[in-house]
Amino acid sequence: MEKKQQLYEGKAKKVYATSDPELVIVSYKDDATAFDGLKKGTIVGKGAVNNRMSNMMMKLLEKSGVPTHFVEELSDRETLVKKVSIVPLEVIIRNVSAGSFAKRYGVEEGIPFDEPTIEFSYKNDDLHDPLLNSYHALALHLATKEEIGTIKAYAFKVNEVLKAYFLSIGVKLIDFKLEFGRLKDGTIVLADEISPDTCRFWDAQTNEKLDKDRFRRDLGGVEDAYREIFQRVAGK
Ligand code: TMP
Ligand code: ASP
Repeated sequence: MEKKQQLYEGKAKKVYATSDPELVIVSYKDDATAFDGLKKGTIVGKGAVNNRMSNMMMKLLEKSGVPTHFVEELSDRETLVKKVSIVPLEVIIRNVSAGSFAKRYGVEEGIPFDEPTIEFSYKNDDLHDPLLNSYHALALHLATKEEIGTIKAYAFKVNEVLKAYFLSIGVKLIDFKLEFGRLKDGTIVLADEISPDTCRFWDAQTNEKLDKDRFRRDLGGVEDAYREIFQRVAGK
């Protein structure tokens, strides 16, 4: 599939048109940002890790009944995906307290929840992705009631599948962010990526962080953490 003009450049990926109007090519960069782009850097090798890991997760989820945008991995950094219009909601599932949850509610990180939680942010950089609930999302016409129901059901399903999978490779899935998109016919599919940029992964034995928090918090060993989680996923 031939890469045509660039349609979009985000903080971590570029999107290109193809000769098929319903397919696009995503190209993953090594660029890393945090805190709404205030912190900038490069994580060498991140683009390839995120591309390949995300594709493996999308394939696993498809097999488990969650429709995704994934079509075909083209190279280390590039993947052919279905063109979607992104639902402007960041969908966050948490199994263990961490990050903004711990901060907002004044609890320690690392407390496991009895049940996973779900929350939405309005995907809007100018407003700094404010937290909202499904009533707010409806009021703002970000999605229909039916779409929100579908998104919630898929998000919890993704959690069940990924939590079990990561545990099998010695990793606790603490929390993660998903984005969904609409195909031309309106079908909701899982889009964006599932990677150490968008998930918190802690080693099951030591609780060592194997994700982007190493970059966000200047913990060092950023590249090693991406390599380590990728090697576990790839079974090396
Ligand atoms: P948070 O605790 O900072 O709200 O993050 C929750 C999860 O969402 C965590 O796994 C990291 C991921 N995330 C993103 O993918 N993009 C973002 O912009 C933010 C803030 C978090
Ligand atoms: N989306 C954040 C940023 O603005 C990145 C993050 O913290 O994951 O750069």
